[in-house]
Amino acid sequence: MYKNYQEFTKLNLKLDMSRGKPSPEQLDLALPLLKETGIADQIKSNGTDCRNYGIQLGLPEVREFFASLLDVPMNQVVVDGSSSLALMHDVIVFALLYGTPGGLPWRDDKPISFLCPVPGYDRHFSILEAFGIKMINVPLLEDGPDMDIVESLVSSDDSIKGMWCVPKYSNPTGTVYSLEVIKRLASMSAVSDFRIFWDDAYHFHHLTDERIAIANILDLCQVAGNPDRAIVFASTSKMTFAGAGLAVLASSIVNIDWWQKCVSVRTIGPDKLNQLRHLSFFQNTMSVDSLMDQHRAILKPKFDIVDSIFEQYLGKIDNISWSKPLGGYFIDLITPPGLAKRTIELAKNAGIILTPAGATFPYGIDPDDKHIRIAPSYPSIDEINLAAQGISLSLLQAMAEDNS
Ligand SMILES: Cc1ncc(COP(=O)(O)O)c(C=O)c1O
Repeated sequence: MYKNYQEFTKLNLKLDMSRGKPSPEQLDLALPLLKETGIADQIKSNGTDCRNYGIQLGLPEVREFFASLLDVPMNQVVVDGSSSLALMHDVIVFALLYGTPGGLPWRDDKPISFLCPVPGYDRHFSILEAFGIKMINVPLLEDGPDMDIVESLVSSDDSIKGMWCVPKYSNPTGTVYSLEVIKRLASMSAVSDFRIFWDDAYHFHHLTDERIAIANILDLCQVAGNPDRAIVFASTSKMTFAGAGLAVLASSIVNIDWWQKCVSVRTIGPDKLNQLRHLSFFQNTMSVDSLMDQHRAILKPKFDIVDSIFEQYLGKIDNISWSKPLGGYFIDLITPPGLAKRTIELAKNAGIILTPAGATFPYGIDPDDKHIRIAPSYPSIDEINLAAQGISLSLLQAMAEDNS
């Protein structure tokens, strides 16, 4: 264990921990998808030649597969492309250009704003920033966004058209939304074209034996009389291949019809060969649960090391804490106010690249400058061990500077 920051910098490390990417070992788990699925022999699916254009919403049997995983009727599921983030982007663009069903184009209804539970996922915020949509911070509590604030804002401000939610193992805090929060989101009063972007990116990414299940937002919206309110997004980016997996969107029939109409302008149909490969992989080679158990076996020791090293260096210091996620890809390290930026700078000088300070907040501004997103998935165990020491020593050094 290194004892001080200066000693640590002499290691001349070069470690990039800025993004939550799967490690090469994790990607190898899905190699049978390339090697063993033999799709050259099964390019036809129910009479459809999967090498050709068409089948806008995805192959029925693949939609059925995701419908059962996400507990949604098959006709409310779309499988399209490989990036759920791209689907979220497209829904926002379509809403801006054409409006959501029954509503005006959002671009004609300016100004538009979105609620952003914070800290949150930087790329969500980048989409909104790119389109000039105003972002309103809402604190993320232990069981989800602060619903008193959310309800009071959406009921009083017509400009609020949407809200990001990462309801399970949130990026970066690991937060799991409670039933109470999900019910309130589904039933609160809001403008009719208000949409919840339910980014279920970590639905299957458990770090413990317990496969936590949360309430079904689409069902609760339906029961509350707001059937079109939520759009669910997910992908296999961190199950099979990041950037070459399958992305999924699920919502009400009305929203799916709207999606189909809008998307037919931008594509003649998705990559059905990749859909076939994935179906064959999951049904014949690897069940989802067994695959995700193998991911967990690789990831969990990395999270444990960060936790144990932080405990040794930082555990007894007031005003420092970190999340202990039960799933997902991140740990949120909370420094004393005003020290996140300096800690990240010191870590960089010691060769450890972290997500920029403020990135988990809209406009890159963490008002208290205290959140650091730690992404332990990609580096090796030895690298993580060193990085966690380096981050701890950087924070201690930042505190020492602050006190001097
Ligand atoms: C919350 C969240 N949503 C979406 C994504 C990206 O998903 P995809 O690879 O399906 O575009 C990530 C990636 O880290 C994420 O953390």
